[in-house]
Parts: sequence; structure tokens; C-alpha cells
Amino acid sequence: MNKIPFSQPLIDEDVVAEVLDSLVNTGWLTSGPKVMALEAEVRAYTGAQAVVCVNSWTSGAMLALKWFGVGPGDEVIIPAYTYAATALCALNIGASVVMVDVLDDFTLDPAQLERAITPRTKAIIPVDLGGWPADYERIRDILEDESVRSRFIPATVAQEKLARPLILADAAHSIGALYKGLKSGTCADLTVLSFHSVKNITTGEGGAVCLQLPPLFEPEVEYRFMKLYSLNGQSRTTYEKNIPGDWRYDIVEQGLKVNMPDLSAAVGLAQIRKYDQQLLPERFELFRLYQELLGTNDRMLLPILQSESGTSSSAHLFLLRIDGMTEPERDRIIADMAQEGIGLNVHYIPLPMMTLFRNLGFRMEDYPNTLRLYRNEITLPLYNGLTPDSVRMVCDKMHQYTG
Ligand SMILES: Cc1ncc(COP(=O)(O)O)c(C=O)c1O
Repeated sequence: MNKIPFSQPLIDEDVVAEVLDSLVNTGWLTSGPKVMALEAEVRAYTGAQAVVCVNSWTSGAMLALKWFGVGPGDEVIIPAYTYAATALCALNIGASVVMVDVLDDFTLDPAQLERAITPRTKAIIPVDLGGWPADYERIRDILEDESVRSRFIPATVAQEKLARPLILADAAHSIGALYKGLKSGTCADLTVLSFHSVKNITTGEGGAVCLQLPPLFEPEVEYRFMKLYSLNGQSRTTYEKNIPGDWRYDIVEQGLKVNMPDLSAAVGLAQIRKYDQQLLPERFELFRLYQELLGTNDRMLLPILQSESGTSSSAHLFLLRIDGMTEPERDRIIADMAQEGIGLNVHYIPLPMMTLFRNLGFRMEDYPNTLRLYRNEITLPLYNGLTPDSVRMVCDKMHQYTG
């Protein structure tokens, strides 16, 4: 048994009560009242125009790309420094991925993005790594520039309306983050959140697509489309069909089957209701404690929590880098700390290092900053329920190991 596990989902009495309510009172296990309530909570929390709950970030991103009409022959630009799902959502619907390098804050480098855009580019997926938002203003400026718009070849009604590549934020880590005062969920055309077990808010497995589309779109219409597309393209959901005698429905699109079950939504509902008041401030406290205790050591390259421009992290991951540390030294610390019962991690092994992506022709040497950041990165435990004493213990050990 770990003394300090790397990660742990929050399963408290509120979660138990909300799940019990599903089991005992509502009678709904699949998408029903809890999913509707979670969509409303996420919409209210983020301020997004509309929110569609799904069964993972990955399926939500596939849904979002499908909605825009991305498919074979199209290119989707992503950072090389991310989790594989950022690439797989595009590959799994037949599109190609183009990778670009990242900045020192781990987010997509806009200058590299500018060079990577071609007439086949249909979407960009910036990643809010560790909860720190990508530079959406720069990214939007690049995509709205006439040089990009004039080369964009629309193939669907949605593409005609947007008239440029889609900005699809990978906000798997960043619910609660702010970019220049804007909540994560409203910084891109579409934003996909993850509610996977290790995330700030969890539904076990799950995610949500947040819509923040330009005025030519009608969010309610696009919401309806995504809802039906998330459930086999069925004209009416099981929840809506639950009227005696009213049995008829149609399949109007070749949709996906990626809807969120109510049992999962119940877990997330209990958490999001106290996210701003309790769960996020607790994360901030732990993050600040790490910053304070590690900041005394010059070798510790600390992640940012807040900036003066109104940008703040969701404090999802504490992405520490240790100056001058080699990869074998880093791996040794992780192994030794595991022996002492402390779970550490690395986020992420860059995609070009993985077999799938190497076989697709990606080469690590094309992403030098990604490699530089990865080599001395160690992610420290950070979750609701972690005690300040545990943070102190981790910091003491880190000081010991880094001399
Ligand atoms: C950056 C990033 N994107 C996407 C995902 C995929 O999320 P999900 O497991 O909900 O599909 C993850 C999950 O860990 C992630 O870390």
C-alpha cells in the first residue's frame, strides 16, 4: 500500500448520496436526469453556450471533429507534448495529425502552428497541459488571419460558416482554469473536458463538449445535433422517448454511441457543486505549498499557478522540472521514491517516442523543446484529499534526492 499514492479519486459522502439517489430514486442508469443536471452545472460553471456530456474526452473530441466534418484527407494540428488521445481522436476518424513543438509552459507554440498550417488543415487542438491554458488569443489571431482564411477549403456547412480551421481545446486537465479572465470551456470554438478518474472532477470515465461558437451558429441547434450524434444519430433519446405509447424514432445520422450514463454523471454532479467553493481552492493551497517549499532550491523549475494577465491554472498537475537532471537520474528518483511509498509520475512521454507515432513517421528530433522539457520532468501528487503533511514529506524527499 502506497503511503502517498500519486492520484486518488474523490469518493466522499456527497458522491455516495448522489449515486444512491440514482439507484434508489430516479430509476435511471443510462443518460437521464443526472446527465441533464450535469450539463446544466457545467454550462453554468464555464459560461459556455451549451454543453454535451459524453463518455470520455476521446469520444467527445471525435464527436466534435465529426460535427465539423473532419475526416480522411484532412489534417489536425496538435502539440507533440500531450497524451495520445489528442492524436487518436483525429486518427480514429480517418484524419491525419501534424505535430508541432511546445513552449516552455508545455503548451503549443503558436509560431510553430503558423508554419504547420496547410490548405488541408481542418482543426487545431491546443492542450491546456497540467491545467495551464494554451495561448488562445495568439492561436485565434493566426487562424483568423486572411492568409489562413483564404487557403481554407470548406467542405461542410459548419466549415463554410466558420471559414477557417476549428479551434478545439483539449481541456482534459483544465476545468476551472482561466485564460485572460475567460473560463476554460469558452476560450475555443469547442472545448472538450475530461472527467476521467484522475481529473479534477470525475465521473469515473466521461467528458463534456462545451460550445462557444461565433454568431453565425445557433448553439441550441448544434447542441441538438451533437446530442443525437452522441446517441447513434437517433432522433430522440431514450429519456425523451420515456412517454407511454410514444415509441417511434428515426436514425437520422450515422452517429456514434458515446453518451454518458446517469450513474457516472451522479459522481461528477456531487463534485462540481462544490468545485469553486472547496475542491479548486484546496488544490490551489497544495500547489502553493509545493511552490513555497520547493522554491528554496534553485534546481527546481516550478510550474506557474497564476499570471498577471488573468490566466490561472486549474492546478491539475504539478509539473516539476529539475534543472540539470538527466533522464536516468529522473527515472531513478521515481523508482527510489516508489520504494518509499511515494507515487510520482511523468507527464508525458512525448508522442513521437511511442511506437505508433514513430511508425507513422514522426521523429523526436523534430520537437527539441518537447524533448528538453520531458527529460527532467517529474509530476508530484496533487489531488483533493492529499494532506499538507504529505506535500511536506514529498518536498523533503525531493530536496534530499536533488542534493
Ligand atoms: C491531455 C489529455 N487529453 C485527452 C485525454 C483523454 O481523456 P479521456 O480518458 O477522458 O478520453 C487525457 C486523459 O488522460 C489527457 O490527459
